[in-house]
Amino acid sequence: MLVNTKTIFEYSIKQKRAICAFNVSNLEMMQAVVECAKEENVPVIISASETAINYAGIENLVSLAKNLTKNADLPIALHLDHGSNIEICKKAIKSGFTSVMFDGSALDYAENVKLTKQVVDFAHKHNVTVEAELGKIIGVEDNIIHKNAILTDPKQAKDFVTKTNCDSLAISIGTAHGINKGLKQPKIYYDVINNVKKELGQNFPLVAHGSSSVPALLVKNINKFGGNITKSQGISTQDLAKMSKSGINKINIDTDLRLAFTSGLREFLQTNPEVFDPRKILNSAKQAVKTQISSLINLISKK
Ligand code: G3H
Ligand code: 13P
Ligand code: ZN
Repeated sequence: MLVNTKTIFEYSIKQKRAICAFNVSNLEMMQAVVECAKEENVPVIISASETAINYAGIENLVSLAKNLTKNADLPIALHLDHGSNIEICKKAIKSGFTSVMFDGSALDYAENVKLTKQVVDFAHKHNVTVEAELGKIIGVEDNIIHKNAILTDPKQAKDFVTKTNCDSLAISIGTAHGINKGLKQPKIYYDVINNVKKELGQNFPLVAHGSSSVPALLVKNINKFGGNITKSQGISTQDLAKMSKSGINKINIDTDLRLAFTSGLREFLQTNPEVFDPRKILNSAKQAVKTQISSLINLISKK
């Protein structure tokens, strides 16, 4: 059954490890996330961005998530990622999402507080939890582009959470969205995590966006089978494990699943030119996604 993020964060706090939130936009990716959660016996969050919703259809995503999780003996949430306005948050809530992010990070502070609070008031009436964002994460966030990261101010975080009553907070700690997170390995500001935790309390759930590891092997395989990815840089696996142990409760991964899907698909199509059955073709992509998800769950969520 789908649940909001409350029990998922309780699990994370108890285990002292982050839960992975994986972005999906089709059947195979959602199946991969839920199957891996069951196989690894660890809660997960299924994330869908506005772009994913526009692609797959909100009702299709909700019914798929409900069906795939109905026999899961684990807390799993369906989360709206980077909701850019109140209307999309309300639509997701009314459609059956159990968690929403309102991303007001591009707004000025007062406006971010005001709109986040409105989303929280509406969501809580429907037993839906709300993630908000403070600070700016570098790169492209679904319709919202930030050229330079602005790290989260811990004192402002305290004021923000008090005023909005949000359930979790995405903080800017040096991670970045997309396939290229900089010329060299991004520096993660663990002091920001520590200082935000001091202000908000050790148990207030914190979220890291832009956390794909961008595995060199996947990029290499995509290029080997006809792709052309020239610039790529991820968060190191050491940093992901450390972020999880340092008090981040939710780690967002999108790019790694896209890379795995494309890698599996390209390899299968080139090495099996006689196959034209979409189920076989897409299953190869799904299996590659599952391998990547399992490795991230083991790295991030397990002891
Ligand atoms: O954090 C942003 C996600 O990667 C969303 O990407 O809008 O292309 O689905 P998308
Ligand atoms: P990546 O581009 O690093 O996968 O970031 C995903 C994300 O933050 C989704 O909200
Ligand atoms: Zn994000």
